[in-house]
Amino acid sequence: MSKKAILEIDGNKYEFPIIEGTEKELGIDIKTLRGATGGITTIDPGYKNTGSCESAITFLDGEKGILRYRGYSIEELAEKADFLEVAYLLIFGDLPTAEQLDKFDKDIKEESHIDEDMKRILDGFPKSAHPMGVLSSLTSALIAFNPGSVDVDSEEAMYGAIVKIMAKFPVLASWTMRKRKSLPLDYGDSSLGYVENLSKMMFSRPNKTYEANKIVNDALDKLLILHADHEQNCSTSTVRIVGSSHAGLFASLSAGISALWGPLHGGANQAVIEMLEAIREDGGDTAKYIAKAKDKEDPFRLMGFGHRVYKNFDPRAKIIKVAAEEVLGDLGIEDPVLDIAKGLAKVALEDEYFVKRKLYPNVDFYSGIIYRALGIPTEMFTVMFALGRLPGWIAQWREMRLRKEPIGRPRQIYTGETYRAFKSVSER
Ligand code: ACO
Repeated sequence: MSKKAILEIDGNKYEFPIIEGTEKELGIDIKTLRGATGGITTIDPGYKNTGSCESAITFLDGEKGILRYRGYSIEELAEKADFLEVAYLLIFGDLPTAEQLDKFDKDIKEESHIDEDMKRILDGFPKSAHPMGVLSSLTSALIAFNPGSVDVDSEEAMYGAIVKIMAKFPVLASWTMRKRKSLPLDYGDSSLGYVENLSKMMFSRPNKTYEANKIVNDALDKLLILHADHEQNCSTSTVRIVGSSHAGLFASLSAGISALWGPLHGGANQAVIEMLEAIREDGGDTAKYIAKAKDKEDPFRLMGFGHRVYKNFDPRAKIIKVAAEEVLGDLGIEDPVLDIAKGLAKVALEDEYFVKRKLYPNVDFYSGIIYRALGIPTEMFTVMFALGRLPGWIAQWREMRLRKEPIGRPRQIYTGETYRAFKSVSER
Protein backbone atom coordinates (compact mmCIF):
# COMPACT_ATOMS: atom_id res chain seq x y z
CA MET A 1 0.00 0.00 0.00
CA SER A 2 1.32 3.43 -0.86
CA LYS A 3 2.43 5.59 2.04
CA LYS A 4 0.60 8.78 3.00
CA ALA A 5 1.33 11.75 5.26
CA ILE A 6 -1.41 13.31 7.35
CA LEU A 7 -1.25 16.94 8.40
CA GLU A 8 -3.58 18.29 11.03
CA ILE A 9 -4.27 22.03 11.28
CA ASP A 10 -6.93 23.33 13.70
CA GLY A 11 -8.63 19.94 13.80
CA ASN A 12 -8.77 19.58 10.00
CA LYS A 13 -6.86 16.67 8.52
CA TYR A 14 -5.19 16.74 5.11
CA GLU A 15 -3.69 13.77 3.38
CA PHE A 16 -0.67 13.88 1.09
CA PRO A 17 0.90 11.10 -0.95
CA ILE A 18 4.47 10.08 -0.20
CA ILE A 19 6.57 9.46 -3.26
CA GLU A 20 9.46 7.01 -3.19
CA GLY A 21 12.61 7.32 -5.28
CA THR A 22 14.53 4.39 -6.77
CA GLU A 23 16.96 4.58 -3.82
CA LYS A 24 14.04 4.44 -1.34
CA GLU A 25 14.17 8.15 -0.51
CA LEU A 26 10.78 9.41 0.63
CA GLY A 27 9.24 12.79 -0.12
CA ILE A 28 5.90 14.20 0.97
CA ASP A 29 4.17 15.46 -2.15
CA ILE A 30 2.65 18.77 -1.09
CA LYS A 31 1.62 20.00 -4.54
CA THR A 32 -2.01 20.25 -3.39
CA LEU A 33 -1.24 21.86 0.01
CA ARG A 34 -2.23 25.46 -0.73
CA GLY A 35 -5.34 24.52 -2.64
CA ALA A 36 -6.54 22.07 0.01
CA THR A 37 -5.81 24.29 3.04
CA GLY A 38 -6.94 27.59 1.57
CA GLY A 39 -3.48 29.09 1.13
CA ILE A 40 -1.27 27.62 3.85
CA THR A 41 2.27 27.21 2.61
CA THR A 42 5.52 25.75 3.94
CA ILE A 43 8.56 27.69 5.07
CA ASP A 44 12.08 26.36 4.61
CA PRO A 45 14.77 29.04 4.13
CA GLY A 46 17.78 27.59 2.34
CA TYR A 47 15.52 24.70 1.18
CA LYS A 48 17.18 22.26 3.59
CA ASN A 49 14.01 20.14 3.58
CA THR A 50 12.60 20.92 0.18
CA GLY A 51 12.77 18.69 -2.87
CA SER A 52 12.42 21.00 -5.86
CA CYS A 53 12.13 18.27 -8.49
CA GLU A 54 12.32 14.58 -9.29
CA SER A 55 15.58 13.84 -11.05
CA ALA A 56 17.23 10.78 -12.59
CA ILE A 57 20.73 12.22 -12.94
CA THR A 58 22.71 12.14 -9.70
CA PHE A 59 22.17 10.25 -6.49
CA LEU A 60 23.93 11.18 -3.31
CA ASP A 61 23.59 9.97 0.23
CA GLY A 62 25.19 12.45 2.59
CA GLU A 63 25.16 10.11 5.58
CA LYS A 64 26.80 7.20 3.76
CA GLY A 65 29.06 9.34 1.58
CA ILE A 66 27.68 7.94 -1.70
CA LEU A 67 27.79 9.86 -4.99
CA ARG A 68 26.64 8.30 -8.27
CA TYR A 69 26.10 9.75 -11.74
CA ARG A 70 23.27 7.92 -13.53
CA GLY A 71 23.87 4.94 -11.22
CA TYR A 72 27.67 4.72 -11.65
CA SER A 73 29.81 5.35 -8.56
CA ILE A 74 32.04 8.41 -8.56
CA GLU A 75 34.96 6.22 -7.50
CA GLU A 76 34.64 4.01 -10.58
CA LEU A 77 34.04 6.90 -12.96
CA ALA A 78 37.04 8.85 -11.62
CA GLU A 79 39.24 5.80 -12.09
CA LYS A 80 37.99 4.38 -15.39
CA ALA A 81 36.17 7.02 -17.45
CA ASP A 82 37.27 10.22 -19.13
CA PHE A 83 35.53 13.57 -18.77
CA LEU A 84 33.83 13.54 -22.17
CA GLU A 85 32.33 10.11 -21.51
CA VAL A 86 31.07 11.33 -18.15
CA ALA A 87 29.62 14.46 -19.78
CA TYR A 88 27.73 12.28 -22.28
CA LEU A 89 26.56 9.98 -19.50
CA LEU A 90 25.20 12.86 -17.42
CA ILE A 91 23.52 14.65 -20.29
CA PHE A 92 22.05 11.73 -22.22
CA GLY A 93 21.62 9.12 -19.47
CA ASP A 94 23.90 6.27 -20.59
CA LEU A 95 27.57 5.71 -21.20
CA PRO A 96 28.23 6.32 -24.90
CA THR A 97 29.13 3.58 -27.37
CA ALA A 98 32.39 4.12 -29.27
CA GLU A 99 30.43 5.62 -32.22
CA GLN A 100 28.33 7.89 -30.00
CA LEU A 101 31.43 9.16 -28.22
CA ASP A 102 33.23 9.72 -31.50
CA LYS A 103 30.28 11.68 -32.89
CA PHE A 104 29.94 13.75 -29.71
CA ASP A 105 33.65 14.57 -29.82
CA LYS A 106 33.57 15.50 -33.53
CA ASP A 107 30.41 17.59 -33.19
CA ILE A 108 31.95 19.50 -30.28
CA LYS A 109 35.14 20.14 -32.25
CA GLU A 110 33.08 21.42 -35.18
CA GLU A 111 31.60 24.11 -32.89
CA SER A 112 34.75 25.20 -31.06
CA HIS A 113 35.28 28.47 -32.97
CA ILE A 114 34.35 31.72 -31.27
CA ASP A 115 32.99 34.68 -33.15
CA GLU A 116 35.82 37.21 -33.60
CA ASP A 117 33.59 39.95 -32.17
CA MET A 118 33.63 38.14 -28.82
CA LYS A 119 37.26 39.20 -28.51
CA ARG A 120 36.23 42.83 -28.39
CA ILE A 121 33.94 42.05 -25.47
CA LEU A 122 36.81 40.32 -23.68
CA ASP A 123 39.06 43.30 -24.41
CA GLY A 124 36.58 45.59 -22.68
CA PHE A 125 37.30 44.01 -19.30
CA PRO A 126 40.11 45.29 -17.11
CA LYS A 127 42.88 42.72 -16.58
CA SER A 128 42.14 42.77 -12.88
CA ALA A 129 38.54 41.56 -13.42
CA HIS A 130 37.78 38.30 -11.62
CA PRO A 131 37.70 35.46 -14.18
CA MET A 132 34.32 34.22 -12.87
CA GLY A 133 32.72 37.59 -13.60
CA VAL A 134 34.31 37.61 -17.06
CA LEU A 135 33.25 34.02 -17.77
CA SER A 136 29.68 34.65 -16.70
CA SER A 137 29.53 37.75 -18.91
CA LEU A 138 31.09 36.00 -21.92
CA THR A 139 28.68 33.09 -21.58
CA SER A 140 25.87 35.61 -21.46
CA ALA A 141 27.34 37.41 -24.49
CA LEU A 142 27.22 34.14 -26.44
CA ILE A 143 23.43 34.53 -26.41
CA ALA A 144 23.78 37.46 -28.79
CA PHE A 145 25.52 35.18 -31.26
CA ASN A 146 23.15 32.25 -30.62
CA PRO A 147 19.84 33.90 -29.73
CA GLY A 148 16.60 32.30 -28.69
CA SER A 149 15.33 29.62 -26.43
CA VAL A 150 15.99 26.04 -27.53
CA ASP A 151 13.07 24.16 -29.06
CA VAL A 152 12.73 21.34 -26.56
CA ASP A 153 10.52 19.39 -28.93
CA SER A 154 13.42 19.15 -31.34
CA GLU A 155 16.08 16.61 -30.33
CA GLU A 156 18.30 18.17 -32.99
CA ALA A 157 17.98 21.72 -31.63
CA MET A 158 18.69 20.49 -28.10
CA TYR A 159 21.74 18.56 -29.25
CA GLY A 160 22.95 21.54 -31.28
CA ALA A 161 22.83 23.90 -28.28
CA ILE A 162 24.57 21.34 -26.07
CA VAL A 163 27.55 20.68 -28.36
CA LYS A 164 27.89 24.42 -28.99
CA ILE A 165 28.34 25.27 -25.33
CA MET A 166 30.46 22.18 -24.57
CA ALA A 167 32.76 23.41 -27.36
CA LYS A 168 32.87 27.13 -26.67
CA PHE A 169 32.96 27.12 -22.87
CA PRO A 170 36.54 25.78 -22.47
CA VAL A 171 37.77 28.30 -25.07
CA LEU A 172 36.15 31.18 -23.17
CA ALA A 173 37.38 29.86 -19.82
CA SER A 174 40.96 29.63 -21.05
CA TRP A 175 40.67 33.08 -22.62
CA THR A 176 39.76 34.61 -19.24
CA MET A 177 43.04 33.23 -17.88
CA ARG A 178 45.13 34.27 -20.90
CA LYS A 179 43.73 37.79 -20.81
CA ARG A 180 44.70 38.11 -17.15
CA LYS A 181 48.20 36.90 -17.95
CA SER A 182 48.52 39.13 -21.04
CA LEU A 183 48.97 36.09 -23.28
CA PRO A 184 47.69 35.93 -26.87
CA LEU A 185 44.43 34.03 -27.19
CA ASP A 186 44.77 30.38 -28.15
CA TYR A 187 42.14 28.72 -30.33
CA GLY A 188 43.03 25.20 -29.33
CA ASP A 189 43.79 22.25 -31.53
CA SER A 190 41.03 19.99 -32.82
CA SER A 191 43.38 17.03 -33.10
CA LEU A 192 43.61 16.90 -29.28
CA GLY A 193 41.21 15.34 -26.81
CA TYR A 194 38.80 17.59 -24.85
CA VAL A 195 40.90 17.90 -21.69
CA GLU A 196 44.25 17.93 -23.49
CA ASN A 197 42.97 20.75 -25.68
CA LEU A 198 41.80 22.66 -22.62
CA SER A 199 45.26 22.20 -21.13
CA LYS A 200 46.88 23.50 -24.30
CA MET A 201 44.59 26.52 -24.46
CA MET A 202 45.46 27.37 -20.86
CA PHE A 203 49.18 26.65 -20.74
CA SER A 204 50.59 27.14 -24.27
CA ARG A 205 53.12 29.92 -24.77
CA PRO A 206 53.45 31.85 -28.04
CA ASN A 207 57.17 31.14 -28.38
CA LYS A 208 57.19 27.48 -27.36
CA THR A 209 55.88 24.27 -28.89
CA TYR A 210 53.18 23.00 -26.58
CA GLU A 211 54.04 19.66 -25.01
CA ALA A 212 51.28 17.75 -23.27
CA ASN A 213 52.01 16.68 -19.71
CA LYS A 214 50.20 13.42 -18.95
CA ILE A 215 50.27 13.92 -15.17
CA VAL A 216 48.68 17.35 -15.54
CA ASN A 217 46.06 16.16 -18.03
CA ASP A 218 45.12 13.05 -16.03
CA ALA A 219 44.73 15.14 -12.88
CA LEU A 220 42.60 17.70 -14.72
CA ASP A 221 40.41 14.96 -16.18
CA LYS A 222 39.81 13.50 -12.72
CA LEU A 223 39.06 16.90 -11.17
CA LEU A 224 36.56 17.73 -13.90
CA ILE A 225 34.80 14.37 -13.40
CA LEU A 226 34.61 14.86 -9.62
CA HIS A 227 32.95 18.25 -10.10
CA ALA A 228 30.65 17.26 -12.98
CA ASP A 229 27.37 17.13 -11.07
CA HIS A 230 26.06 17.29 -7.55
CA GLU A 231 22.28 17.28 -7.86
CA GLN A 232 20.29 20.30 -6.64
CA ASN A 233 23.06 22.53 -5.24
CA CYS A 234 22.94 26.34 -5.36
CA SER A 235 24.25 26.83 -8.92
CA THR A 236 22.34 23.88 -10.39
CA SER A 237 19.09 25.03 -8.80
CA THR A 238 19.85 28.46 -10.27
CA VAL A 239 20.31 26.98 -13.76
CA ARG A 240 17.05 25.04 -13.44
CA ILE A 241 15.09 28.00 -12.08
CA VAL A 242 16.35 30.43 -14.73
CA GLY A 243 15.70 27.84 -17.45
CA SER A 244 12.21 27.25 -16.06
CA SER A 245 11.21 30.68 -17.38
CA HIS A 246 12.23 29.33 -20.83
CA ALA A 247 15.30 31.56 -20.89
CA GLY A 248 17.86 29.93 -23.20
CA LEU A 249 20.54 27.46 -22.20
CA PHE A 250 23.39 29.99 -22.31
CA ALA A 251 21.45 32.51 -20.19
CA SER A 252 20.69 29.80 -17.63
CA LEU A 253 24.34 28.74 -17.52
CA SER A 254 25.54 32.30 -17.12
CA ALA A 255 23.34 32.63 -14.02
CA GLY A 256 24.69 29.30 -12.74
CA ILE A 257 28.27 30.57 -13.07
CA SER A 258 27.39 33.61 -10.94
CA ALA A 259 25.85 31.37 -8.28
CA LEU A 260 28.94 29.16 -8.27
CA TRP A 261 31.21 32.16 -7.74
CA GLY A 262 30.32 32.67 -4.06
CA PRO A 263 32.77 31.54 -1.35
CA LEU A 264 30.15 29.31 0.28
CA HIS A 265 29.85 27.35 -2.96
CA GLY A 266 32.41 27.02 -5.79
CA GLY A 267 34.43 29.99 -4.58
CA ALA A 268 35.50 27.92 -1.58
CA ASN A 269 38.43 26.38 -3.49
CA GLN A 270 39.97 29.83 -3.95
CA ALA A 271 39.11 30.74 -0.37
CA VAL A 272 40.87 27.58 0.90
CA ILE A 273 44.21 28.47 -0.69
CA GLU A 274 43.91 32.10 0.41
CA MET A 275 43.24 30.89 3.95
CA LEU A 276 46.18 28.45 3.88
CA GLU A 277 48.46 31.20 2.52
CA ALA A 278 47.31 33.58 5.25
CA ILE A 279 48.01 30.94 7.91
CA ARG A 280 51.47 30.34 6.45
CA GLU A 281 52.27 34.07 6.39
CA ASP A 282 51.07 34.31 9.99
CA GLY A 283 53.66 31.71 11.09
CA GLY A 284 51.75 28.50 10.31
CA ASP A 285 50.01 28.26 13.69
CA THR A 286 47.08 25.95 12.80
CA ALA A 287 45.84 25.77 16.41
CA LYS A 288 45.20 29.53 16.36
CA TYR A 289 42.98 29.21 13.29
CA ILE A 290 41.14 26.18 14.65
CA ALA A 291 40.35 28.29 17.73
CA LYS A 292 39.17 31.18 15.53
CA ALA A 293 36.88 28.84 13.57
CA LYS A 294 35.33 27.62 16.82
CA ASP A 295 34.87 31.10 18.28
CA LYS A 296 31.26 32.20 17.67
CA GLU A 297 32.28 35.87 18.06
CA ASP A 298 34.74 35.46 15.17
CA PRO A 299 33.29 35.34 11.64
CA PHE A 300 36.20 33.15 10.45
CA ARG A 301 35.21 29.73 9.12
CA LEU A 302 37.57 26.95 8.20
CA MET A 303 37.23 27.10 4.43
CA GLY A 304 36.92 23.69 2.79
CA PHE A 305 35.27 22.19 5.86
CA GLY A 306 31.64 21.24 6.17
CA HIS A 307 29.05 20.45 3.57
CA ARG A 308 25.34 20.99 3.29
CA VAL A 309 24.67 17.33 2.55
CA TYR A 310 27.75 15.24 3.38
CA LYS A 311 27.69 14.77 7.10
CA ASN A 312 30.20 11.90 7.40
CA PHE A 313 32.66 12.38 4.60
CA ASP A 314 32.72 13.80 1.09
CA PRO A 315 33.51 10.86 -1.24
CA ARG A 316 35.09 13.27 -3.72
CA ALA A 317 37.45 14.56 -1.01
CA LYS A 318 38.69 11.01 -0.39
CA ILE A 319 39.57 10.51 -4.07
CA ILE A 320 41.08 13.95 -4.44
CA LYS A 321 43.21 13.68 -1.30
CA VAL A 322 44.99 10.68 -2.80
CA ALA A 323 45.20 12.42 -6.20
CA ALA A 324 46.74 15.55 -4.58
CA GLU A 325 49.49 13.49 -2.99
CA GLU A 326 50.15 11.62 -6.26
CA VAL A 327 50.26 14.77 -8.39
CA LEU A 328 52.57 16.60 -6.00
CA GLY A 329 54.80 13.50 -5.80
CA ASP A 330 54.84 12.97 -9.59
CA LEU A 331 55.55 16.61 -10.32
CA GLY A 332 58.17 16.70 -7.54
CA ILE A 333 56.49 19.63 -5.79
CA GLU A 334 56.95 20.35 -2.12
CA ASP A 335 54.32 22.78 -1.02
CA PRO A 336 54.37 24.18 2.53
CA VAL A 337 50.69 25.00 2.07
CA LEU A 338 49.97 21.25 1.74
CA ASP A 339 51.66 20.62 5.08
CA ILE A 340 49.47 23.30 6.67
CA ALA A 341 46.41 21.72 5.03
CA LYS A 342 47.32 18.30 6.41
CA GLY A 343 47.93 19.76 9.86
CA LEU A 344 44.58 21.55 9.86
CA ALA A 345 42.71 18.46 8.68
CA LYS A 346 44.37 16.29 11.36
CA VAL A 347 43.54 18.66 14.22
CA ALA A 348 40.01 19.37 12.99
CA LEU A 349 39.15 15.71 12.49
CA GLU A 350 40.01 15.04 16.15
CA ASP A 351 38.53 18.22 17.63
CA GLU A 352 35.20 17.86 19.42
CA TYR A 353 33.72 21.01 17.80
CA PHE A 354 34.22 19.64 14.29
CA VAL A 355 33.41 16.01 15.18
CA LYS A 356 30.14 16.99 16.89
CA ARG A 357 29.02 19.11 13.93
CA LYS A 358 30.20 16.49 11.42
CA LEU A 359 32.50 18.96 9.69
CA TYR A 360 34.86 17.10 7.36
CA PRO A 361 37.17 18.33 4.61
CA ASN A 362 35.14 18.74 1.41
CA VAL A 363 36.27 18.43 -2.22
CA ASP A 364 37.45 22.05 -2.28
CA PHE A 365 39.85 21.52 0.56
CA TYR A 366 42.12 19.47 -1.72
CA SER A 367 41.21 20.62 -5.24
CA GLY A 368 42.92 23.99 -4.77
CA ILE A 369 46.15 22.27 -3.80
CA ILE A 370 46.15 20.30 -7.07
CA TYR A 371 45.25 23.31 -9.20
CA ARG A 372 48.12 25.18 -7.57
CA ALA A 373 50.52 22.32 -8.30
CA LEU A 374 49.38 22.36 -11.94
CA GLY A 375 50.29 26.06 -12.19
CA ILE A 376 46.74 27.38 -12.35
CA PRO A 377 46.38 30.85 -10.77
CA THR A 378 44.27 30.94 -7.60
CA GLU A 379 41.56 33.18 -9.06
CA MET A 380 41.03 30.59 -11.84
CA PHE A 381 40.13 27.80 -9.41
CA THR A 382 36.40 28.47 -9.49
CA VAL A 383 36.53 28.65 -13.29
CA MET A 384 38.00 25.13 -13.23
CA PHE A 385 35.05 24.07 -11.09
CA ALA A 386 32.66 25.63 -13.62
CA LEU A 387 34.37 23.74 -16.46
CA GLY A 388 33.75 20.51 -14.60
CA ARG A 389 30.19 21.38 -13.62
CA LEU A 390 29.15 22.36 -17.17
CA PRO A 391 27.80 18.91 -18.22
CA GLY A 392 25.91 18.62 -14.93
CA TRP A 393 24.25 22.01 -15.45
CA ILE A 394 23.39 21.05 -19.04
CA ALA A 395 21.98 17.67 -17.96
CA GLN A 396 19.83 19.29 -15.25
CA TRP A 397 18.60 22.03 -17.58
CA ARG A 398 17.77 19.45 -20.30
CA GLU A 399 15.92 17.22 -17.84
CA MET A 400 13.92 20.17 -16.50
CA ARG A 401 12.94 21.31 -20.01
CA LEU A 402 12.14 17.81 -21.33
CA ARG A 403 9.90 17.21 -18.33
CA LYS A 404 8.19 20.51 -19.08
CA GLU A 405 8.52 21.57 -15.45
CA PRO A 406 6.56 24.69 -14.44
CA ILE A 407 8.28 28.02 -13.83
CA GLY A 408 10.10 28.08 -10.47
CA ARG A 409 8.34 30.42 -8.12
CA PRO A 410 8.69 29.86 -4.35
CA ARG A 411 6.27 31.37 -1.85
CA GLN A 412 7.04 33.40 1.26
CA ILE A 413 5.54 34.31 4.60
CA TYR A 414 5.23 38.09 4.63
CA THR A 415 6.49 39.68 7.86
CA GLY A 416 6.49 43.37 6.90
CA GLU A 417 4.14 46.24 7.75
CA THR A 418 0.42 45.64 7.34
CA TYR A 419 -1.57 48.24 5.39
CA ARG A 420 -0.59 51.88 6.00
CA ALA A 421 -2.08 54.93 4.35
CA PHE A 422 0.28 56.92 2.16
CA LYS A 423 1.55 60.24 3.59
CA SER A 424 2.85 62.98 1.36
CA VAL A 425 6.42 64.23 1.96
CA SER A 426 5.23 67.26 3.98
CA GLU A 427 3.36 64.97 6.39
CA ARG A 428 6.26 62.58 7.13
N1 ACO B 1 34.13 26.28 10.10
C1 ACO B 1 33.67 26.44 11.37
N2 ACO B 1 32.40 26.16 11.75
C2 ACO B 1 31.57 25.71 10.81
C3 ACO B 1 31.97 25.52 9.47
C4 ACO B 1 33.31 25.82 9.14
N3 ACO B 1 33.74 25.67 7.89
N4 ACO B 1 30.93 25.06 8.74
C5 ACO B 1 29.89 24.96 9.58
N5 ACO B 1 30.27 25.35 10.84
C6 ACO B 1 29.45 25.31 12.05
C7 ACO B 1 28.44 26.45 12.05
O1 ACO B 1 28.96 27.59 12.70
C8 ACO B 1 27.29 25.82 12.82
O2 ACO B 1 27.63 25.82 14.19
P1 ACO B 1 26.47 25.95 15.31
O3 ACO B 1 25.62 24.74 15.15
O4 ACO B 1 27.23 26.00 16.62
O5 ACO B 1 25.75 27.23 15.00
C9 ACO B 1 27.29 24.35 12.35
O6 ACO B 1 28.68 24.11 11.99
C10 ACO B 1 26.39 24.09 11.16
O7 ACO B 1 26.70 25.04 10.15
P2 ACO B 1 25.71 25.49 9.00
O8 ACO B 1 26.23 26.76 8.37
O9 ACO B 1 24.31 25.49 9.50
O10 ACO B 1 25.86 24.30 7.97
P3 ACO B 1 25.31 24.30 6.52
O11 ACO B 1 25.08 22.87 6.18
O12 ACO B 1 24.20 25.25 6.34
O13 ACO B 1 26.54 24.93 5.66
C11 ACO B 1 28.54 25.13 4.42
C12 ACO B 1 27.39 24.21 4.88
C13 ACO B 1 27.99 26.42 3.79
C14 ACO B 1 29.35 24.39 3.36
C15 ACO B 1 29.41 25.47 5.64
O14 ACO B 1 29.89 24.29 6.24
C16 ACO B 1 30.59 26.39 5.29
O15 ACO B 1 30.41 27.61 5.30
N6 ACO B 1 31.80 25.83 4.99
C17 ACO B 1 32.93 26.60 4.56
C18 ACO B 1 32.78 26.99 3.10
C19 ACO B 1 33.01 25.83 2.17
O16 ACO B 1 33.94 25.05 2.31
N7 ACO B 1 32.13 25.71 1.16
C20 ACO B 1 32.24 24.66 0.12
C21 ACO B 1 31.06 23.80 0.11
S1 ACO B 1 31.34 22.45 -0.95
C22 ACO B 1 30.99 23.00 -2.49
O17 ACO B 1 30.34 23.98 -2.72
C23 ACO B 1 31.53 22.18 -3.58
